Amino acid sequence: MESMVPAGNPIRWLGQQLFNRQNPAVFFDPLLEVVNPLWVRRYLPAQVIGITEETHDIRTFELRPASRWGGFRPGQHLNLNVEIDGRWYARPFTLSCAPQQWRRRGTITLTVKKVPDGVVTGWMHDRMAVGDVVGITEAFGDEPNPRPDEPALFIAGGSGITPALSQLSAMSEQGRDAPVTLLYFVRTEKDVIRRETLEHLQQQLPQLTLKVVVSEPAGRVPEYLNEDHLRQIEGLGHHECFVCGPPGMMRAAGELLESSGVSPDQIHRTFFVAATPADGGDAEAGGTVTFARSSHEVLVEDGRSLLEVAEEAGLNPRYGCRMGICHQCSCRKSSGVVMNRLTGRASSPGEETIQLCISSPRGPVSLDL
Ligand SMILES: Cc1cc2nc3c(=O)[nH]c(=O)nc-3n(C[C@H](O)[C@H](O)[C@H](O)COP(=O)(O)OP(=O)(O)OC[C@H]3O[C@@H](n4cnc5c(N)ncnc54)[C@H](O)[C@@H]3O)c2cc1C
Ligand code: FES
Repeated sequence: MESMVPAGNPIRWLGQQLFNRQNPAVFFDPLLEVVNPLWVRRYLPAQVIGITEETHDIRTFELRPASRWGGFRPGQHLNLNVEIDGRWYARPFTLSCAPQQWRRRGTITLTVKKVPDGVVTGWMHDRMAVGDVVGITEAFGDEPNPRPDEPALFIAGGSGITPALSQLSAMSEQGRDAPVTLLYFVRTEKDVIRRETLEHLQQQLPQLTLKVVVSEPAGRVPEYLNEDHLRQIEGLGHHECFVCGPPGMMRAAGELLESSGVSPDQIHRTFFVAATPADGGDAEAGGTVTFARSSHEVLVEDGRSLLEVAEEAGLNPRYGCRMGICHQCSCRKSSGVVMNRLTGRASSPGEETIQLCISSPRGPVSLDL
């Protein structure tokens, strides 16, 4: 006689029948929440264990994720899930520490700017307290990590320092041969974030050249990123460049780096807010999109995003912000060229992860969806 119990994990199957849930473990969440909130199964819990005031609008939150959290690479992000007045919100933040901190002490840090009228960052600054438990996702993000023998340049503005903090802290743990430069732009002297960490990094990493630029000093002419800052970097064309900051700075950095001889492939950008699309249209937009896993093929004749194309084809891909910020819609492209609508750049034709909501096809494209 054929078994009613499907192959796989029979105990899990029994649990699903008894508790009528895909994940029976969450049935016990209300009880576990009282005993130890880090044991809860419906989200990855992390307990707030420290809060440091960095500047008038920036705080660093030290969290202790449940031990089953998978860790991260320098420069990666996570989504923080919090319940505020009965509603759940998810927001992305870059980890601002080295992975070694997680491995050694089991803690991570997020360094967060309070956005004016921001629901989640406002709540974090005003109401989140030591001892609270929040939800986090596994880390995500494809940003590369510079090799120890490869010169690197970080250009950061304001709270956009967080990816650089993580990468530089990791470098100081691993050791490094090649030079690394951090150009850090802040509005006023009081806006420097994690000053002690930066000083510590300078001591630990002799290869680090750190230049803090106060862009709006009282009574002096403002100083924004310009050719002079880049001219001081020897062999700039051989550097891997990492840029994170306000949209205006991101745009200027990209243009200046490219006009100084840095190839576009060497410029890696982390956007914190949706940038204005690079141009109004793409004359070469369109192509046949193959959704390989669901065996769908769609002919696209305009510059619609792959997220829209997938939804119109009846698929249900994961998404969050729909504007290139949260990375929830990340999907594997197995072949084909797509246009990034934020940067205005065409992708390579090979296999890579793309964000569906800001990518349009340029010729035939095959996706793992
Ligand atoms: C990959 C990634 C990593 C990030 N890492 C960090 C980090 O390490 N530290 C950090 O402080 N922030 C980081 N951010 C930005 C952070 O996610 C936003 O500040 C946050 O989502 C704002 O949420 P909120 O609920 O407070 O604001 P909302 O209530 O969602 O927005 C309120 C208003 O603020 C505007 N707004 C939203 N975000 C910003 C922003 N960043 N700057 C200016 N205006 C904004 C909105 O358009 C809206 O008008 C990151 C963003 C991304 C995409
Ligand atoms: S990046 Fe947020 S949905 Fe695409």
